[in-house]
Amino acid sequence: MSAKKGDTLCVFINGKKVTEEHADPETMLLSFLRERLRLTGTKSGCGGGGCGACTVMVSRYQPATRTIVHFSANACLMPLCQLHGAAVTTVEGIGSSKTRIHPVQERIAKAHGSQCGFCTPGMVMSMYALLRNNPQPTIEDITQSLAGNLCRCTGYRPIVDGCRTFCQEANCCQANGGTNCCLSAENSTKEPEEEKPQLFDKDEFLPLDPTQELIFPPELILMAEASNPQRLTFYGERMTWVSPISLEELVQLRTRHPGAPLVIGNTNIGPDIKFKGALHPLVISPSRVKDLFEVCQTPEGVWVGAGCSLTEVRFLLEKMVPQFPEEKTELFRALIQQLGNLGSQQIRNVASLGGNIVSAYPNSDLNPVLAAGSCKVSVVSSEEKREVPLNQAFFVGFGKTILKPEEVIVSVFIPFSRKGEFVRALRQAPRKEASFATVTTGMRVYFSKDSRMVQDVSIYFGGMGPTTVHATKTCKGIMGRPWDEETLSRAYGVLLDELVLPPSAPGGKVDFRRSLTLSLLFKFNLDVLQKLKEMSVITDELPEKLLPLPRDIHPSLQEFQHVPKNQSDQDPVGRPMMHRSAISHATGEAVYCDDIPRVDGELFLVLVTSSRAHAKITGLDVSEALQLPGVVDVITAKDIPGKKARAMFGYEEELLAMNEVSCVGQMVCAVVADTKLHAKRGAAAIKISYEDLPDPVFTIEDAVEKSSFFEPLRMIERGNVTEALKTVDGVYEGEIRIGGQEHFYMETQSMLAVPVGEEMELNVYVSTQWPTLMQVAIAETLDIQYNRVTCHVKRLGGAFGGKVIKTSILASITSVAAWKTNRAVRCVLERGEDMLITGGRHPVLGKYKVGFMNDGRIVAADFQYYVNAGCAVDESVLVSEKILLHLDNTYNIPNLRGRSATCRTNLPSNTAFRGFGVPQSLLVVENMVNDVAMVLGRPAYQIREINMYKGPSVTHYKFEFSPENLLHCWEECKLRSEYSVRLRAVDQFNQLNRWKKRGMSIIPIKHGIAFAEGFLNQAAALVHIYKDGSVLVTHGGTEMGQGIHTKMQQVTSRELGIPTTKIYISETSTGTVPNSCLSGASFGTDANGMAVKNACEILYQRLEPIRLKNPKGSWESWVQEAFLDKISLSATGFFRGKDLYMDWDKMEGQPYFYFTYGVCCSEVELDCLTGDYRTVRTDIVFDIGRSLNPSVDIGQIEGAFTQGLGLYTLEELKFSPSGFLYTRGPSQYKIPAVCDMPLQFNVYLLPDSDNPHAIYSSKGIGEPALFLGSSVFFAIKDAVAAARSDSGLAGPFSLDSPATPEKACLACASPFIQKIPASRSGSFKPWALNI
Ligand SMILES: Cc1cc2nc3c(=O)[nH]c(=O)nc-3n(C[C@H](O)[C@H](O)[C@H](O)COP(=O)(O)OP(=O)(O)OC[C@H]3O[C@@H](n4cnc5c(N)ncnc54)[C@H](O)[C@@H]3O)c2cc1C
Ligand code: FES
Ligand code: FES
Repeated sequence: MSAKKGDTLCVFINGKKVTEEHADPETMLLSFLRERLRLTGTKSGCGGGGCGACTVMVSRYQPATRTIVHFSANACLMPLCQLHGAAVTTVEGIGSSKTRIHPVQERIAKAHGSQCGFCTPGMVMSMYALLRNNPQPTIEDITQSLAGNLCRCTGYRPIVDGCRTFCQEANCCQANGGTNCCLSAENSTKEPEEEKPQLFDKDEFLPLDPTQELIFPPELILMAEASNPQRLTFYGERMTWVSPISLEELVQLRTRHPGAPLVIGNTNIGPDIKFKGALHPLVISPSRVKDLFEVCQTPEGVWVGAGCSLTEVRFLLEKMVPQFPEEKTELFRALIQQLGNLGSQQIRNVASLGGNIVSAYPNSDLNPVLAAGSCKVSVVSSEEKREVPLNQAFFVGFGKTILKPEEVIVSVFIPFSRKGEFVRALRQAPRKEASFATVTTGMRVYFSKDSRMVQDVSIYFGGMGPTTVHATKTCKGIMGRPWDEETLSRAYGVLLDELVLPPSAPGGKVDFRRSLTLSLLFKFNLDVLQKLKEMSVITDELPEKLLPLPRDIHPSLQEFQHVPKNQSDQDPVGRPMMHRSAISHATGEAVYCDDIPRVDGELFLVLVTSSRAHAKITGLDVSEALQLPGVVDVITAKDIPGKKARAMFGYEEELLAMNEVSCVGQMVCAVVADTKLHAKRGAAAIKISYEDLPDPVFTIEDAVEKSSFFEPLRMIERGNVTEALKTVDGVYEGEIRIGGQEHFYMETQSMLAVPVGEEMELNVYVSTQWPTLMQVAIAETLDIQYNRVTCHVKRLGGAFGGKVIKTSILASITSVAAWKTNRAVRCVLERGEDMLITGGRHPVLGKYKVGFMNDGRIVAADFQYYVNAGCAVDESVLVSEKILLHLDNTYNIPNLRGRSATCRTNLPSNTAFRGFGVPQSLLVVENMVNDVAMVLGRPAYQIREINMYKGPSVTHYKFEFSPENLLHCWEECKLRSEYSVRLRAVDQFNQLNRWKKRGMSIIPIKHGIAFAEGFLNQAAALVHIYKDGSVLVTHGGTEMGQGIHTKMQQVTSRELGIPTTKIYISETSTGTVPNSCLSGASFGTDANGMAVKNACEILYQRLEPIRLKNPKGSWESWVQEAFLDKISLSATGFFRGKDLYMDWDKMEGQPYFYFTYGVCCSEVELDCLTGDYRTVRTDIVFDIGRSLNPSVDIGQIEGAFTQGLGLYTLEELKFSPSGFLYTRGPSQYKIPAVCDMPLQFNVYLLPDSDNPHAIYSSKGIGEPALFLGSSVFFAIKDAVAAARSDSGLAGPFSLDSPATPEKACLACASPFIQKIPASRSGSFKPWALNI
């Protein structure tokens, strides 16, 4: 806190006035809400505006128009000081389970839009802010509002469906959870079938009643209308905030402090402070300077205040467009187009026009358009007032313009266009929405009257250099010439020579970026020709009109079976029951690890990690850190009283590096301080010196060359592959590379270790999938007995395999700090740290040699897998094994061989991730099948069908099974997706379109369920019945969004015959259920369900005599009676699974209980010029036996599919040549967002399936559907093949995963791609490694 007294900040939060005497300019709203006001509903997922978890609504009164504006904003980037005079509404402010929940909260929850729930408050608030402005939005409004809100669990479909119920257009039955569409002609002629069960009932929903919303505080209106506003100043520990009220004052301040930034949206300055450590002793907030917000229309165009938010600019332009002839608004429309794609709604609501211009990002979306459109800015300083054109001279370098430091942009002039002038804005980004562009452009051409002669042309690009660049020579080449084929072909050549990127240019994607400049110009050309034709200037036969990719999200179908007719109404098993915490998620009441209130004297721990990939530690200097305010201690390996390393598979992993580091991001020591900020500053002051060790190994190729492997290397074979390959009609060799994947659980690694104060007892609250492992690891690290450590897990904000091994290391370090200081210690990783330290899915290189017959039979296949494990073994050998166990996928290949090598590299160690190697294994297998199809010139689905297991079958490890349900899924999927009809339609589409192609694929999966390590297949439960009849269930599984607690509630309800409302599950704890196994391998419900059932059966039996005595009595009366009769009302249950095993020497085993099957058909539309694609439809048929809870299971299928879609088409980890992870947040690493949802997303649960191996005939479902995301990969590949065929290329081709727009576009081999000269490999150091 600063000693200086500033002004008092006044803000209303959820209708309550909050005043702050010492508002610190460095405090963001998010930490103020969470730490000061204890409003923990607003979550932190990234801290940089990229995930939406922190979304709140801000409302302001605007005196000029006497209106109140409401907008969504990211609390993580919103400086508290910026909110003086504003009203903030958080998720707690709109509804609560104690009073009344808001319809938005209710609908998202009841439509099953919440799984782990960590993203839910943000989703709720984005939707709430939309409804405050527009109570009857369209589906487009909804998807735009949610574009900046990431969810890692659901796949978005249920969230959109819940929100869709607010649309007027949602009156069709399908839109609201219905199945058979009431509007379909086919349905109207038929007798109504038996009504299909629905996932939710919209009739239950509360109506939206705008009169019930919080009113804007009248006090703030009075404040805003005050006639004599004063300058505001807030002093913090390191920063001062000044908010002037007049332009004159602003200019004076700027003159006196030319280095002080102006902060409006804080979307550039904020991330710079947070992630790059920028420090500004003074910042100036011009938000109350009216001149910066004025709009003035002139005959030539419009002056827009530089302080206006991008949303305001868009609204303004949208309002103006209809008021003028079309020809005058070309530039306006181009800007509207660009503003619709820039950032997210939350960012656009606060980011200012002037801020965007001055930030001068290399890939700013607005600057190329403003510059091409001949816009200018009006600037003032104490010396002069001038107008400066936004042109090439304006942008001088990365983040630099020609403006003098003391100058302020007051407004921006956007001119009307003239007749004969065309302006376009085009961009290509790694993800369609909420993503900075790879290349972005503004292009303008002006023709002489009624002619195709170019009088003026201007072309600017972003993403092609350190700042916005002008294609000067290209424009010169076009100027004064007719806009025709000859001019344009010459222009492509000039452009290619003019905008050269060095092969190691920052950001990489060099060939792609260069090709985009050409293809975007080509797109502009097609548009211009179309316009000229419409204006009858030309009569040429035109090439196809390029329409944008489709984007309308249609209602989808989710079909499942009714429960049997004779099932009691009270029995919830088999019914779609809402996640038991969904309402708490939606109201923000659900408590996650970091929401636990601070304990007295609590400290915060921040890790210090290695900056070298392979080096000796020669010195560790902590002295400066220890001097800093708030720093209490530094924890090093020397402080660990017990085991300093964890052993797995004979390899040791140090908790904190002692002498040597083997990757960038390895933990070396940790700083504990009174606050997170102080701990961070302490960590930054630690000095580690290194001596680099030679030859770090990063890539799989490096590891193979140096034989750097973790043992054992595994091999499996059936038949005789070598011999069989001699007898086949054809042999093909291929390979495919699959990149890694970041878990990106929305809640980062979090834990709180609290010493009890006596006898070495420790309570640890931790976000983990395996509390027992934490207990064991902590106890061994502290060298105490396990019985002193109790681990508690209430819920996790997602895990996906990433909260097991790595969490145990983090929890151990945190516990050492708690033990050493004897104080509670909290550790919550920031997103960037989490991504850097904790590893993810293993990148894999798969090579294969396949022998096949001309009739399509695959007779022999030989696979070699290389798995990039990183620097520690972790579970990587098990991943390698699982890869080999799934080699056959659904195919009966008589001669099948697989080898897998676990490569040891100097990268952060990879770990378990949903699917555990299966998604990598199967992509290679399916790619091999695709190649065979291409060689034979047959559709891939036929090769799949020919080779699929049929009849009683045996896997390559001699496991007997029946593929009957797999074949049912296959047939059902073909039928439901109308496969053959659509295949023809795809062909037709492709014949009609040169630059857009459609592709379709149908992909099966067979996934083994349970742990091959037999001892893990056990579970225990503890069920208490209390005297009032309420029941408390505890079991070994952890709730991480997969709905295990909901399912356990359902099991208990059935077994005890009581409603779920009487059953509660509080947490998972090592104190109640000891020695539990991890929640993973899709086996949590199978195992814990049986244990809970067992405990309930015991209790039921105990109550039996009482029930018989009084059959008409109530549950409560039986319980009372039992208590009086001294009958124990508490029981443990246990499940002992079969002894599974795999004998690698004999190459046989029983590593699974059973298989879960599924088949998925996806269709995409691909823009071959940019690689952009859209999944137009996905149909999934899944066999999950008899679903315990169809809404939870469908949620798992959709969520896993979407994660797979991310893995195979979107998510790219990038490492620098020295092994440093570049992609450390949602700005650089793109997981699927709402824009990636298939436009039609249908899921059908296979009816009439039974599974004798799991509870109530259900099947494990957590992981299997992830691989089905590859159907989108193969659909893209199919579309690419069609494009290549237009370029005269046939046969198999290489497309690695993820099939990002870059890879898809390059693989299309369009004439523009072919123009790019290939960089000579070896002649340069690429920007990023291909690991
Ligand atoms: C998650 C995220 C996604 C984004 N996505 C995109 C995207 O897709 N495309 C894109 O183009 N941009 C994107 N942006 C960038 C965003 O548009 C800019 O950061 C924003 O427009 C800057 O405005 P601001 O008001 O927030 O600037 P601030 O951070 O408040 O200020 C930025 C800089 O501008 C200066 N400045 C501001 N106003 C003036 C003025 N009137 N006169 C002189 N100097 C001034 C300040 O001194 C400061 O140096 C994204 C940003 C984030 C955080
Ligand atoms: S935490 Fe604010 S956007 Fe991610
Ligand atoms: S429910 Fe959305 S992140 Fe988990």
